[in-house]
Amino acid sequence: MLPALFALALAPQVAADCDDIDGIAPRYDVVFERDIQPLLGGTSTPGATPYCETCHVLSSSGGMNVAPANIRLAWLGEDEAGQVSLNFPPWKRILPGRPGDSLVYRRIHCDDSPPGRMPPGSPGGAMDPAFLQLQALLHDWIALGAIMATTDRRFIGDFESLR
Ligand code: HEC
Repeated sequence: MLPALFALALAPQVAADCDDIDGIAPRYDVVFERDIQPLLGGTSTPGATPYCETCHVLSSSGGMNVAPANIRLAWLGEDEAGQVSLNFPPWKRILPGRPGDSLVYRRIHCDDSPPGRMPPGSPGGAMDPAFLQLQALLHDWIALGAIMATTDRRFIGDFESLR
């Protein structure tokens, strides 16, 4: 193979309609309850930005409620290997270790997610910088194994390839 083509094949595959999180430093120390849950809503954290709260905490749109008491089952399922989406099987809401194959991440990160961005009508990362932060945090947390305080798993894998 020509060297130039080989280099191209190794380049990261970023679809054109997905936000670019490269400008945000990777985080190896994401703590779900501290860093992500407050951005989803349903906590008493002062200054929380409840992007998802109206429809997925105070209500259960798409059959998904992400209030602190429900989120482990809603995202990871009984076996903690990923809850299958109600409306878009076989997508898993969170597939530990694989952000790009996790519906929750895809739906806030890419226009082509089935069946479009969340929140409904959102322009994605153009919305505000904190929204891009949420994408990066979710990405890194899933890549690190999607560990929550209540999960049985303690394995955190693949530090070398977080992004
Ligand atoms: C204004 C209401 C609203 C807001 C705000 C909202 N959603 Fe949704 N969401 C919906 C509705 C309605 C559905 C079901 C229809 C669909 O899948 O598009 C849904 C479905 C979903 C699903 C698919 C669940 C499944 O298993 O099929 C995911 C994932 C999701 N939302 C994530 C989010 C995230 C993350 C946020 C915050 C960044 C968010 N949503 C904010 C209304 C909302």
